[in-house]
Amino acid sequence: RKYDPYRPSTNVFDLITRDAKALCQELMPNPEEETRKLALLERLSDIATEVFGEAEVLPFGSSGNGLALANADMDVCVFLNSKEGSAEEQVSPVEFVERIGDRLEKDNEFENILQLKRARVPIVKLNHVNGIACDIGYQNDLAIWNTRLLRAYCRIDTRVRDVVVIIKTWAKRRKINNPYAGSLSSYAYVLLVIHVLQRRGVLPNLQSIVVGNGKIPYWDCQGFNRYFFEDIPNLARYWQPTPEAMKQSVGELLYEFFRYFASEFRYTTHVVSIRSGGLLTKEAKEWSKDHTQPQQQQHQRQQPQTLQPQTSTVDSPALTDEQPAADSKPVVKNRYLFCIEDPFELDHNVGRPVDRYSLFTIRGEFMRAAKILSRNGEGAISRLCYERE
Ligand code: CTP
Ligand code: MG
Repeated sequence: RKYDPYRPSTNVFDLITRDAKALCQELMPNPEEETRKLALLERLSDIATEVFGEAEVLPFGSSGNGLALANADMDVCVFLNSKEGSAEEQVSPVEFVERIGDRLEKDNEFENILQLKRARVPIVKLNHVNGIACDIGYQNDLAIWNTRLLRAYCRIDTRVRDVVVIIKTWAKRRKINNPYAGSLSSYAYVLLVIHVLQRRGVLPNLQSIVVGNGKIPYWDCQGFNRYFFEDIPNLARYWQPTPEAMKQSVGELLYEFFRYFASEFRYTTHVVSIRSGGLLTKEAKEWSKDHTQPQQQQHQRQQPQTLQPQTSTVDSPALTDEQPAADSKPVVKNRYLFCIEDPFELDHNVGRPVDRYSLFTIRGEFMRAAKILSRNGEGAISRLCYERE
């Protein structure tokens, strides 16, 4: 490990760990909230079945990966198991939004229903009278799989959730968790945390652990390989953390996260890639130049429903990163200032919303955070998460 003159002492780390864990406890969604979410999920499942025949409703995002903070929105995705040849076989995303949206309108248990038909990923947004805000998407397999990947990482070690919860809280309170405004999604921050924990030896690379003959299997999902090792209870047979990694406290890992992105990570050349368990270069990925390209080229996919960038009038925060375009020209701006490779969708830069200005702000926040944690343990977590503005 490189010499770090700012590295705090063990007792400072202990204080940070203590306060971080207390804050995590405080921010846990309570069982009552979970119950309301489950009830809403069942209700939506009944409604989808009523409208479309056979339907399955699955949670994704923070409600599916175990990384939710209290009062988080719920992201769900509807899958239709329509029988071959039946009239229901081809329900387009727009039609889906219309039909389920219209049905929900008839129920006064749902409020503020929005049908975002022209979004990159068409969705219905609503608030349930029980207080849960919910986004309903359609047949988005990749989102389900990346949620499962994140959940698997979370189950490996309890420190993962603690670190993620603090980072998400810090990013929200410091106002750098808004892809519409050029900052990063929660999903992006979780990928950054996994990257740092992989570097520290706290987490393995689940996409490279193979049972049996040593070759990574290809399990297709919308044209991408969704394979990863998911049998976490038996992980120890294939991978173990280093003794040094086992000893690291949550406080130490938080400091390491901020220090790394404040002063070690090279924004101009590197790409964060949890799929490869480390760094790639922008050059190797051909992510060197920002460019604008026709939408059609962005859509060489096996299914129309992907998480690809696309110009749209309205977007779902959970699934898209872009400011809605004023005109409807089919062009998309790809930015490669902060490069974070999606673990499955390898041509998707999850850091794409970041522009020059927001990168400056985000890096400033990394530096501020590293400085706070390196000085004094007492009160550091509350200073770290001090609400901006
Ligand atoms: N997602 C994605 N690609 C993105 C952004 C999001 O695939 N560029 C999908 C992922 O499946 C992710 C989900 O959308 O898990 C939700 O993203 P986000 O809202 O950023 O994360 P949450 O964990 O739901 O965080 P929060 O609690 O802040 O809503
Ligand atoms: Mg979410």
